Order: sequence, then structure tokens, then C-alpha cells
Amino acid sequence: MEEQIKLVHEAIDASLPLSSSDAIEAFRIRFLGRKGTVSALFEQLGSVPKEQKGQVGKLLNELKIKAQSAIDSASAAENGKSLVIPKTDLTLPGTPIQFGRLHPLTVVLNEMIEIFRFLGFSVASGPELEHDWYNFEALNFEHDHPARDMQDTYFIDKDLLLRTHTSPVQIRVMENQKPPIRSIMPGRVYRNEAVSARSYCLFHQLEGLLIDKNVSFVDLKTILLAFAREFFGPQTKIKLRPSYFPFTEPSAEVDVSCHLCHGKGCRVCKHSGWLEILGCGMVDPNVLKAAKIDPEVYSGYAFGMGIDRIAMMRYGIDDIRLLWDNNLRFLQQF
Ligand code: PHE
Repeated sequence: MEEQIKLVHEAIDASLPLSSSDAIEAFRIRFLGRKGTVSALFEQLGSVPKEQKGQVGKLLNELKIKAQSAIDSASAAENGKSLVIPKTDLTLPGTPIQFGRLHPLTVVLNEMIEIFRFLGFSVASGPELEHDWYNFEALNFEHDHPARDMQDTYFIDKDLLLRTHTSPVQIRVMENQKPPIRSIMPGRVYRNEAVSARSYCLFHQLEGLLIDKNVSFVDLKTILLAFAREFFGPQTKIKLRPSYFPFTEPSAEVDVSCHLCHGKGCRVCKHSGWLEILGCGMVDPNVLKAAKIDPEVYSGYAFGMGIDRIAMMRYGIDDIRLLWDNNLRFLQQF
């Protein structure tokens, strides 16, 4: 019996290595199958004399384990071969995802809207293609008024034009709403100016209008100071210089102390310490009349600021054309 076991050991050694799944299966059938060599030897164990049984049984078990482990390791190697190894290198860094950003003008406008909403103003809008009546006539610009030359206008025909400011929306709001009115009106405006680092043929304004009983110049100053401190920072000062607009009386231009140098003078404020940000005034009674609001009962104030200019000051942009170029290297900085 021991001699037979030795022969099977040799037979097993001779059939290794098992290099295909067919070879593994044939090996299994030959040695461990129901009619296989090892199984046959186990059957003979019954006729082994009692005193040898323990020893022979142990040798048989070793034989079985040897055959089984040959099968196990060959199968493991075979499975490894069939593993799908991905062609992509999963350790490589991924392709970066490009995120979109808000345009600096949008960032500034959103912030302005937020501040005025908080101060109780709602947002209104009007058309960019406007009638002479809304852009000029109702705003107290008479036909031959020299102030019409203050703004170089793109006329479409005798009556239609591209609005030169957002002030025509004041009239549209007053026509559609009864006082009290508290509105801001952001939008695009157009002027026939030579394009340069400082001026572009279209830009953005934010108009403000408040109409109520007993509104005074102090209310205007208060709201403008509140806005300036919220937008430019709590230390900001404002300065009002007398000015002229046909649709406001009295009128003023407003400067804010430079948020970069705090009044000491720098490149952004051209060493004056001040930045000019808006025009404003008390709504002229003629404008209220044009919008069918009784100037004996109501009064109000209006203001208009250039969004592009303010964005340029905020971010230190020195060429207005950058706002229109859609150059990603510029836009990705915001
Ligand atoms: N519409 C004026 C401009 O374009 C600004 C302004 C608005 C002035 C409202 C006074 C009141 O320059």
C-alpha cells in the first residue's frame, strides 16, 4: 500500500505544472474524481490490517491534500489570467472640470440690488429701444434743449432711439404705479462715443426713484450714504457737488472717498482721494407732471449710477473694453 501511495506521489509530480483549465480538470478527475487514483486507495483502506490503518490513513490524507493544493494553486493562477486589466491608468490625475463664474458686472449689480432691496426698493425695468418722449421729452429736455447734446444719441428714426440713460424707466414706473414709489432700475444704455479705455458705446446704469409725500434732499443724502457705506465699506464718506440735469432740481454729483487709499490719493482715484459715482437730485415738478403725478402733493428724488465704472473702481480695472472682450484669462480672475 505504501508503495502504491509513493507511485501516486510520483504521478502527481509528473503531471505538474497544470497550465490550462482543461489540464486542471483532467488532473482532478484522474486523482480526486470518484473513480480517481486517490479515491481508489481510500477504498482499499478497509482491507488494511488494523495496526497499519493509522499510518496508511495519514499518508493517504497527505496525498489527497497534495493533489488538492496543486489544483487550488493552478486554478488561482488560471483565474488571474482571465482578470480584465483596465487599459486606463486609474492612478493618473483626472481632467479638471471648468466651473463657470459670474461676470464682474453681474457680481457688482447683484450686490447693489441686494443693498437697495434691503433699503426697501423693488426692481423695475424698461425697454432699451425707447421713444424720444421717455428718453428726453418727459424728462424735461425740450426739443432744442442744449442738454440733449450732453449725451450722444443713437437715433433709429425721428422718434426711436437707443436709450442714453436709465432715467426713461422713471417715467414708465411713475405711469404704471401710484406713489409711494421706491424703485431701482438697472439696465443697458447706449451712447455714440468713440471707444477707448475709458468709454464704450454701451454700458450699464442703475437708476433709483423714490416718490412720496414730504420727501426732502436729506432723505436722498441719507439713502446714498447708507448705500455707499454698505457697498464700499463702513468708513466711506460721500461728497455732493452741485450739478445740472434737466429732470432734477436741485441736482448734484456724488463722490465717495476712495475705498483703496481712504482719501490719501492713489492710482484708482487719480490722486484726488475721491471717486465720482453718480448723478442725483430732487425730481423736477415738470417730470412729475409729465408722468401725471401731482407735484403739489408728491415730491421725490432720483439717482443714477454707472455700474461699469463702479466695477472698474472696485476691481482696479483700467480698460473698460476688458468688460466686453470675453477673454477667459481676464474673466477667470473674478
Ligand atoms: N441720467 C443721468 C445720467 O445718465 C443720471 C441721473 C439720474 C441724474 C437720475 C439725476 C437723477 O447721467
